[in-house]
Amino acid sequence: MLTNLKPQPADKILELIGMYRADPRPNKIDLGVGVYKNAEGVTPVMRAIKAAEKQLWEAETTKSYTGLAGEPAFHDAMIELVLGTSVERDRIAAAATPGGTGAIRQAMELVMLASPEATIWVSHPTWPNHLSIIKHLGLPLKEYRYFDSETRAVDFAGMAEDLAGVKAGDIVLLHGCCHNPTGANLTLAEWAEVISILQDTGATPLIDIAYQGFGDGLEEDAAGLRMVASEMPECLIAASCSKNFGVYRERTGILMAISETAKNTGVTQANLAYLNRQNFSFPPDHGARLVTMVLTDDALRADWKAELEEVRVGMLGLREQLASELQRLSGSDRFGFLAQHRGMFSRLGTTPELVQKLREDHGIYMVSDSRLNIAGLNKNTVPVLAEAIVKTGI
Ligand code: LMR
Repeated sequence: MLTNLKPQPADKILELIGMYRADPRPNKIDLGVGVYKNAEGVTPVMRAIKAAEKQLWEAETTKSYTGLAGEPAFHDAMIELVLGTSVERDRIAAAATPGGTGAIRQAMELVMLASPEATIWVSHPTWPNHLSIIKHLGLPLKEYRYFDSETRAVDFAGMAEDLAGVKAGDIVLLHGCCHNPTGANLTLAEWAEVISILQDTGATPLIDIAYQGFGDGLEEDAAGLRMVASEMPECLIAASCSKNFGVYRERTGILMAISETAKNTGVTQANLAYLNRQNFSFPPDHGARLVTMVLTDDALRADWKAELEEVRVGMLGLREQLASELQRLSGSDRFGFLAQHRGMFSRLGTTPELVQKLREDHGIYMVSDSRLNIAGLNKNTVPVLAEAIVKTGI
């Protein structure tokens, strides 16, 4: 049987990890996978998470199963973080999932149960794993225009035109903030227009929010999502704790499903629990428990917010330094978008051949679509990257 298997396409992002590790050059720079790194190149355990872990080690008396959908306290804490008070609590069903990827996968499976004919609309471009999961499940898939490769900003006219063609019952996948891979984001006025298109078409939004707190701030990054959730009758939200709590390997995420009325919440909740049971039974608990402790303890929460803000401001500083260094070396403003983009990523907008040249000639690793992870830089490597970009003729 196993001899029938065919090789699967390599994940563009994850294959870079291996290539980078195998490169013996000491000055190589990793701008590939979306993992935060501090100035020393370390992905630290956040202070509040470490403190919560210590408390948990003392206090935890069992590792028996939690609920199938995870702990209600985790749902409450995450719903408050992501949605604030934008939606009545009794309209929201929620289930803990293995990371944000798990939440996306469960969202797709929920769509398959509820609306098997639905087409999933994704931005062009989007996180490659969105495409991969949708194709793996065999769901109908369409793309809407999103990124203007000339200006490196959102092509909102194109997006609005394409979304107007969405059919009632279709699913529109949106990035809550810090668009991955481009770094170009919707303004609040554009979010409002998206809402009115969704209302006109009768489509359901699925919002992937994996970088809350990495863009303009925790509240600011959730503002568009909250508008959608409060104005649409139904909404799905896949939230990740990997980046903003730094708990990548703990696999901590949540799927929220908002029904039009509270009457439907019970059956939605039961479906989420059912899907967890079919796919992995109980969701991982350790990371979810730590996140709950951090969010519900005033001191831990304040410390977490302070550290997250340091991370966010640090990335903004690197963006500005890179844009101005490139301005100086190239004598043009064409890299100004780097300071306008938000989140971990920006798309440079160059060819896979030049990305390969950056890797071969300068030991600089970024995804072949020219997405770079800003958090992979530090003050000393920004000038090295800027020089390499200009030398490579990008
Ligand atoms: C990324 O886009 O690099 C991250 O979300 C990590 C991943 O799983 O791809």
